[in-house]
Amino acid sequence: MIKAPDHISSIQPYVPGKPVEELERELGISGSVKLASNENPVGPSPRALRALRAGMSSLNRYPDGSCYYLRKALAERLGADPDELIFGNGSNEIIELAVRTFLSPGDAAVMAHPSFIVYASIVQAMNGKSIVVPLKDWRHDLKAMASKITKKTKIVFIANPNNPTGTINRRDEMDAFMKKVPEGVLVVVDEAYYEYVSSPDYPDCMHYLREGRDILILRTFSKMYGLAGLRIGYGIAPAPVAEEMNKVRQPFNINSLAQLAAAAALQDRQHVARTKKINEEGKAFLYAGLERLNAGYVPTEANFIFVPLAQGNAAEIYTALLKKGIIVRPMGPSALRITIGLPEENRRLVRALKQVKALF
Ligand SMILES: Cc1ncc(COP(=O)(O)O)c(C=O)c1O
Repeated sequence: MIKAPDHISSIQPYVPGKPVEELERELGISGSVKLASNENPVGPSPRALRALRAGMSSLNRYPDGSCYYLRKALAERLGADPDELIFGNGSNEIIELAVRTFLSPGDAAVMAHPSFIVYASIVQAMNGKSIVVPLKDWRHDLKAMASKITKKTKIVFIANPNNPTGTINRRDEMDAFMKKVPEGVLVVVDEAYYEYVSSPDYPDCMHYLREGRDILILRTFSKMYGLAGLRIGYGIAPAPVAEEMNKVRQPFNINSLAQLAAAAALQDRQHVARTKKINEEGKAFLYAGLERLNAGYVPTEANFIFVPLAQGNAAEIYTALLKKGIIVRPMGPSALRITIGLPEENRRLVRALKQVKALF
């Protein structure tokens, strides 16, 4: 049978959070809760749902390949030029476009570990080399990352907030880092959880764009806007960078319903405010619950909480929770990542954690 080249066959397949339907089928249960994929537990924006219903009758037509209306609305919101935007089938696709556009086989990309796992697999698919720098105190070690940039480096990935730890790098750290990055290296700042951040020290990366730096800021409609199933994200970059990436993307990569829903969700400030409030309250509730269990956690700026486990028994706790109908995400043997849910879901999680406390 045909063989994939080694750099492809050695890719570790991405393991998504277990779907509720799969768990319920396997255990013959119902009413389970998924706190595993950092989705919005509130649901999609009602305005987006209305836009979707209205848009369905045009599904015989190809979508607008330029995302004209969404591009215009977003450019206004961001104070960006429409040519500085690029849209993707989820921000995942924009990661892939950036790598395919700027990284040739043998080139390197610098990234942190643990961080969003997709960076490394896409770099590997291009036969590139991932230079991995361990987190320091659960945050990107930007000094160490800057020191790993060589002539071979084309891209640096910074998830801010980081997934899975929920931590951010501050403005002063980013400023110092950006000054060290040589021209011709693209800094991809992945801000998938941007809308959740409340720290006053969070850097405004548009500032680096305005300084003329090689930066690509990634955002998504999958998290705060509750549209993960429709797959739409966007990047903000200097127009020439976006232009090159546009040559690589498929002409109709954003389906018409995703464009309509994203434009509507962007205007739904009520839905965003409600989501943010539920997340903040859920965060406080889960912090208190974890503290009562004497479980350590990493304070988060996103919609999930990273729980390091001294005993290396993430798999056991994960399985024990599954049996109670709760899906979280094991992160290697020594940590769990728990998405902040609705109040009732958080209560169920804390109750279940109490029952598996012996495992902590
Ligand atoms: C840091 C980070 N970046 C990107 C993504 C991808 O999001 P999407 O492709 O749904 O926009 C995720 C999703 O979990 C993420 O955590």
